[in-house]
Amino acid sequence: MNAGEWKEKLSAIRDSFSVSIAKKPADNPEALELRFLGRKGELALLLRDLKDIPLEERKPLGALGNTAKQEMEAKLAELKGAAPAAGPAAAPGLDLTLPGTPFPKGSLHPLTHVMNRLAEAFLKLGFTMSDGPLVEDDYHNFEALNFPPFHPARDMQDTFYVDAKDAAGKFMLLRTHTSPVQIRSMEKTEPPIRVFHTGRVFRSEAVDASHSFAFHQIEGLYVDKGVSMADLKWTADAFMKDLFGSGVKTRFNPSYFPFVEPGAEVDMSCVFCKTGAGRCPVCKGTGWLELMGAGMVHPNVLKGCKYDPEKWSGFAFGGGIERFAMLLYGISDMRMLYENDLRVLKQVQ
Ligand code: DAH
Repeated sequence: MNAGEWKEKLSAIRDSFSVSIAKKPADNPEALELRFLGRKGELALLLRDLKDIPLEERKPLGALGNTAKQEMEAKLAELKGAAPAAGPAAAPGLDLTLPGTPFPKGSLHPLTHVMNRLAEAFLKLGFTMSDGPLVEDDYHNFEALNFPPFHPARDMQDTFYVDAKDAAGKFMLLRTHTSPVQIRSMEKTEPPIRVFHTGRVFRSEAVDASHSFAFHQIEGLYVDKGVSMADLKWTADAFMKDLFGSGVKTRFNPSYFPFVEPGAEVDMSCVFCKTGAGRCPVCKGTGWLELMGAGMVHPNVLKGCKYDPEKWSGFAFGGGIERFAMLLYGISDMRMLYENDLRVLKQVQ
């Protein structure tokens, strides 16, 4: 082989190396190394052929051969470094040892949290969950609860009427309280019964720090043989302690609701000032917070649901969920619960 032939061969080897290395996907770099630079590789063999070329011509050819070798080594090293053997892990600039980027996670609304906590408290006491519609008829929202037509007690609950009539020809309405669920539960179940319900209610009220046209209530009902006011007192006390801690006390004040007799308001000792001494803005210095309405189920209500009041007696209670949420989370304005301000919502996880 003369010098010219040798040069041509070198250039052919370089060309075929360039073609191999530019392939997409590239050939395996180890195989290329073996093929071109290995002991019996194309370039190695060519370099060995130099010995047949006269000494004076050999030197510049040797230099050319070495440059080609270095270039090939560099290209192969590059290819090895970028070898995507493990998929995206090898993408340039991606460091899998860095911690991941956190993404925002949703959480339950504070009111949902409270409803879940209330549900847990009542499930523990052996109550089961019940349900009823948001659009009610006059019978379940009022009449069956011993509010006769035109009775002034109806005025306690400013009602949204709906432009649709029920089977009795009366306007349907958005339920003003969760008490109709008592009726619906008794209609479905033979006594004894022990149920609770949490859900939304509606009243035509101006919105302020403690009022809203849509809010939430919890309702409970227990009818059995020989149920007394003492059972109601114990249950209310156990449930308040479950929610606010064993240090709280409860007391009853006489009150009027048409569907209970006797009726009571359930107060809890103030969880903020604890004593009632001083000027606590939450209990207004009385030491007590009014939390629920309650009482012994009125015989008319039992009779209407075909429960014999001579045989069965029971208690019922109901209260506002927003009020519980405000006390549990120290929220002073009810509107904060509806505005969906993440700064507020994020504080309850
Ligand atoms: N439903 C009543 C209201 O919204 C609250 C209430 C009072 C519920 C006494 C009861 C009860 O179950 O026994 O004002």
